[in-house]
Amino acid sequence: MDFTLSLDPNAPIPLHQQLYNELRRSILTGRLLPQQRIPSSRSLAKSLGISRTTVTQSYDRLLSEGYLETIHGSGTYVCSQLPDELLHSAPIQPADRQTQPPIHLSQYGNYLARTSIQLQKEPNQPISFRYGSPAFDCFPLKLWRRLLSRHSRTTQWMDYATDMQGYHPLRAAIAQYLSRVRAVQCTPEQVIITNGTQQALDLMMRILIEPGETIALEDPGYLSARRIFLSHGARLLPIPVDEAGLVVETLTKPVAEPIRLVYVTPSHQFPTGATLSLPRRLELLAWAMQHHAMILEDDYDSEFRYGDRPIPALQGLSQAQSVIYMGTFSKVLFPSLRIGYLVLPPDLVPIAVQAKWLSDRHLPILEQIVLTEFIVEGHLESHIRKMRSFYDQNRQVLVQALQSHFGEQITILGEKAGLHLMVRLQTNLSDEELVQRATQVGVGVMLARPHYLVPADRHELIFGYSELNPTQIQTGIAQLAQAIGSPP
Ligand SMILES: Cc1ncc(COP(=O)(O)O)c(C=O)c1O
Repeated sequence: MDFTLSLDPNAPIPLHQQLYNELRRSILTGRLLPQQRIPSSRSLAKSLGISRTTVTQSYDRLLSEGYLETIHGSGTYVCSQLPDELLHSAPIQPADRQTQPPIHLSQYGNYLARTSIQLQKEPNQPISFRYGSPAFDCFPLKLWRRLLSRHSRTTQWMDYATDMQGYHPLRAAIAQYLSRVRAVQCTPEQVIITNGTQQALDLMMRILIEPGETIALEDPGYLSARRIFLSHGARLLPIPVDEAGLVVETLTKPVAEPIRLVYVTPSHQFPTGATLSLPRRLELLAWAMQHHAMILEDDYDSEFRYGDRPIPALQGLSQAQSVIYMGTFSKVLFPSLRIGYLVLPPDLVPIAVQAKWLSDRHLPILEQIVLTEFIVEGHLESHIRKMRSFYDQNRQVLVQALQSHFGEQITILGEKAGLHLMVRLQTNLSDEELVQRATQVGVGVMLARPHYLVPADRHELIFGYSELNPTQIQTGIAQLAQAIGSPP
């Protein structure tokens, strides 16, 4: 059998190793087929012009590793069952999958197998009132790049973290910022850096909730939180929301199962935008203490308040260890940063720190260092100030445009804070028709309906205003008014 191999006598790799590599590659790529006879060591040595010992050395290794086999009196052959075949088994064909027994899943796995989380469809019309993201064009990219480049010159951020709770200077900067701006009572020792609010919620479920236990939550409310609660087998108790936020009185009505936890967005209820009033805050805290329930306070965009003085965080008003405070840099900076934080009652800290470490060890250190410097040098607060006035201008233009084009036909909700507002609309059109008509005139709007657990007989749209300019907002609302028509 003729067999061409390219060996380089001048290469630093010994010839027997080169020959081994070449033969192994030929077998694995199918150049030499299973059960194919290979040349004898003598003839291969002759044809390649190398010593027989070199060939035998390579053959011996391939024999010992199971690539070749000798059949006594017949010669040397490529094995019919190759070792790498066993290592990299072929993908299972769909037909085979049906005949195999199902994979045993945990309760969590089973829940996920029954669900299909769809990423929310975002409008992409020329003028889209998309909500959720900040204005990326206004981000101080040059400054961020400078900080990143300054710190990436060293290697100090490359190793595994030694602090399980998150980069200590960042925790200190966050604790300082929160106590000054949000009246949160905390030390750096109570702060855990998380992969956004998303992970903070997931960790809290792991350590606080057993499947079947009850969580009360705002209705309408934040969809991602609801999904996380359900994935952990929690029972959901929807609590209505009015213009003063969560209707705390509803919580006090007798329920079959004790409520373990209440999830709230008190600064800017999502999506209605209501602010939980001070009397309700105090009522909620008193209720939680009396019922040994925990409160999960999600303070996702409280930095952006227009006009009113911010009400202190629930956490700062609490005299007991009943509030878990969560914050994020997704709105004030950018969501792909994936940095958020938990402020925990001291007793929960050691448990949550371990849950976090077991889940993903830690966040990238370089970004934590850069963010720390961004905060400590005062850039965060000046960026927030700048963005507050930018968003405020957009917000005022939007409110004016809505009022002048829709007048009595609409009620505007939650416009005093955040990056979005909600509009309740009198119309004979269905929600689908509203979206369709808006789309036809190149305007993207989003419905509030998916955020309800108990469907409400109302037409509500959410308008994000962070990513548009005043002209786009005015044009968009004028076009929308034409498309939707006049009040019924
Ligand atoms: C109510 C609420 N909480 C938190 C977040 C931010 O989540 P994360 O920090 O995981 O990006 C959002 C984002 O839209 C939100 O609407």
